[in-house]
Amino acid sequence: MTVSPVTESTTSTPLTIDEEPVAIPRRFLMCRPDHFAVTYAINPWMDPSAGADRDRAVAQWEALRDAYLALGHQVSLIEPVAGLPDMVFAANGALVVGGRVYGASFAHAERRPEGPAYAEWFRRNGFADVLEPSHVNEGEGDFLTLDEVILAGTGFRTEIAAHQEAQEHLGRPVVTLRLVDPRFYHLDTALFPLDGRNVAYHPGAFSPGSRAVLERLFPNALIADEADAAVLGLNAVSDGRNVVINAEAVGLIATLRDRGYTPVPVDLSELRKAGGGPKCCTLEIRH
Ligand code: ARG
Repeated sequence: MTVSPVTESTTSTPLTIDEEPVAIPRRFLMCRPDHFAVTYAINPWMDPSAGADRDRAVAQWEALRDAYLALGHQVSLIEPVAGLPDMVFAANGALVVGGRVYGASFAHAERRPEGPAYAEWFRRNGFADVLEPSHVNEGEGDFLTLDEVILAGTGFRTEIAAHQEAQEHLGRPVVTLRLVDPRFYHLDTALFPLDGRNVAYHPGAFSPGSRAVLERLFPNALIADEADAAVLGLNAVSDGRNVVINAEAVGLIATLRDRGYTPVPVDLSELRKAGGGPKCCTLEIRH
């Protein structure tokens, strides 16, 4: 037996991952913030007396849409409705998996008309399986889809009964996670899928039991700290490689780069005044 001395690999890679992240093209639904405003407060980020600049919000939203297009993703648009200032947050409009649509039913009266508006868009665009929900749920705000499971938030908006209803309609296992910090009132403010098998999240947003569930399901998860969570850094959209993320989440952006992902920083500071970031503005249409 010949024993060769340990040498440094000549093909060494700076990445600490076994597989190179791979981008998969997506189809998104977005809603231009033509009627954006902060006129009521249904989460701790919203202060109606502070005022929001609609033109600035539109410019930031356009930059987000352009970033998706530059990455090769498809963006469909839903017509904004006057009097629905939060309609820009398309993620809340539905959950679409395997071409089947689970409609949204909003927790707060101010946003309730958005549910039927989004359901109608899907019906008109050739989606036959649109389920009108019997339980309060805010679409992809609280449902995040991976290859084998759908992670579902509860505690502030979406009811657990909706988790069960979504599982039945979509035929995918739904895992309930309990949110405990009012700043992170939707699951998508505290966690995002990096790809179909792994996630990034902020443990402080979850109950002890749900933290244990996340540790068990995702031993290689990317853990984000309080500072990154506090700028809605976890409200990010990954295509498996490129991660569209709030520019202020500097720690998380550096960690993503270390892990071989390509961060795509965006400025959505105006929309954050309503408690939203890149993911909130983005509903994924999965065929
Ligand atoms: N103002 C909106 C609300 O509180 C923000 C929604 C953000 N959307 C999201 N997917 N987290 O309902």
